[in-house]
Amino acid sequence: MLVFSTSDKGGTGRSVTSCNLAYRLCMSGRNVAYVDFDFGSPTAGALFEISTVERGITDGGVHSYLLGQTGTAARVDIGTATDRAELKRVAPRSGRLVLFPGDEGGAEFLTADDAVVTRCAELLVALEQEFRVVFVDLSAGRSVALEIALQATALPQLRRRTARWLIFHRWTRQHILAAAGLVYGPHGLLQTGAACGHDPDELLGSTRYIRTAVPAANSHLTAQRAAQAAWLQEQDVALRRLATANRLGATAVLGATPMEPVLQWREQLILDSDVNAHIANHETAQAYTELARRLVDVASWERL
Ligand SMILES: Nc1ncnc2c1ncn2[C@@H]1O[C@H](COP(=O)(O)OP(=O)(O)OP(=O)(O)O)[C@@H](O)[C@H]1O
Ligand SMILES: [Mg+2]
Repeated sequence: MLVFSTSDKGGTGRSVTSCNLAYRLCMSGRNVAYVDFDFGSPTAGALFEISTVERGITDGGVHSYLLGQTGTAARVDIGTATDRAELKRVAPRSGRLVLFPGDEGGAEFLTADDAVVTRCAELLVALEQEFRVVFVDLSAGRSVALEIALQATALPQLRRRTARWLIFHRWTRQHILAAAGLVYGPHGLLQTGAACGHDPDELLGSTRYIRTAVPAANSHLTAQRAAQAAWLQEQDVALRRLATANRLGATAVLGATPMEPVLQWREQLILDSDVNAHIANHETAQAYTELARRLVDVASWERL
């Protein structure tokens, strides 16, 4: 299965959430690949705490591969290369987790030319055969990376493969409108997808939203201040209405992640050891596990 992670705005939690989902799926026994298509700002190495590829790889990353400068895209086995001790100790039944890092000093593509699209399709076909789940972290907005992914998946060699499109957004008014614009707006996912040869209905059926860092409207901290608690509840109701009105309602949502203090301070994987040490919230780890489950559960993707 190919999973494309995108968002309209930057800083939505797209990379952090995708890395955590990749980790959770690997823990449940699947072989998982994580491909960094955020060419201008590859961050996956940092998230998996691999100091040698923190800002991307110096030689033969995904960007150079797509440009045809190298025959194969560099790969890094995360369990071996990570600096994080707990991540090295993989559970007996877990799968492999492999990073395909971006290039240090890479840049966004300016156009999706045919040679780049063909190489992209070749890479995705090979990875789809080797791994149960392949995450592709695209850059934010209507990027050329998104167009390359849409063109590649419309090619005959990929069009019958299972592809999922995840749209990440924060739980605010502007983020909800931006996410809707990315899917339904001009030059958005559906319009660009149709121009590349996708059936827009099928593409929409493979698209779900993930609400990130959603604050608790009924937190015990706010309960002491009745006015604030009431205001937060009202906002939450208004945002739900706005989401539904913009076709981002409950049926189109894969799930949400709660506001996590650890992630407000530091971009990283939330391991069970962080929860057991009472550093990260149990609800956050649970949200990632549940999102990972839904991602691979066909029932979450039935046509509505
Ligand atoms: N559930 C959460 N609670 C609190 N903060 C979060 C949560 N999820 C992500 N964050 C934080 O939000 C910030 C943005 O996350 P991330 O880098 O994953 O976003 P992105 O959409 O990939 O950004 P970019 O467009 O720069 O690639 C990071 O500091 C991250 O730690
Ligand atoms: Mg990112």
